[in-house]
Amino acid sequence: MIKDILKDLLKNSYSPYSKYQVACVIKAKDGKLFYGVNVENKSSKDGLCAEQVAISSAVSSGYKKSDLDNIFIMGSGEKIIVPCFLCRQLLNEFFCGETIIFCYNNGRDEKQFKIKDLCPYDFNNDFISDSKYI
Ligand code: THU
Repeated sequence: MIKDILKDLLKNSYSPYSKYQVACVIKAKDGKLFYGVNVENKSSKDGLCAEQVAISSAVSSGYKKSDLDNIFIMGSGEKIIVPCFLCRQLLNEFFCGETIIFCYNNGRDEKQFKIKDLCPYDFNNDFISDSKYI
């Protein structure tokens, strides 16, 4: 079960600074799973979120937006995690608006969101396609 995988994956998180572990699983339409955990750094701006790591893994394996099905994240705290805003932009890039993101806390309580609901007023291709140098 994905929740068990997430719980197990939390142990791989490298989060000595925040002490907040995050795990992410991406399920592709062919059933393949991609994993990510947060990977922190003394230089805090260099830290990676679990979603970034999982998406990078899927993309590096040749998977495209149209190949990806669902995304699951778990945080080690009491509150059910929601993706940070940097990750929302990334999720918006690699998942359709209708895709469900399943979010959990350490007790496996669940909330579900559609990517489009997490990303209102998004910066999307419309801005770039009609842009001009002036
Ligand atoms: N974190 C994630 O991995 N994903 C998110 O969407 C929210 C925040 C990580 C980053 C950092 O390692 C820790 O949680 C605390 O901010």
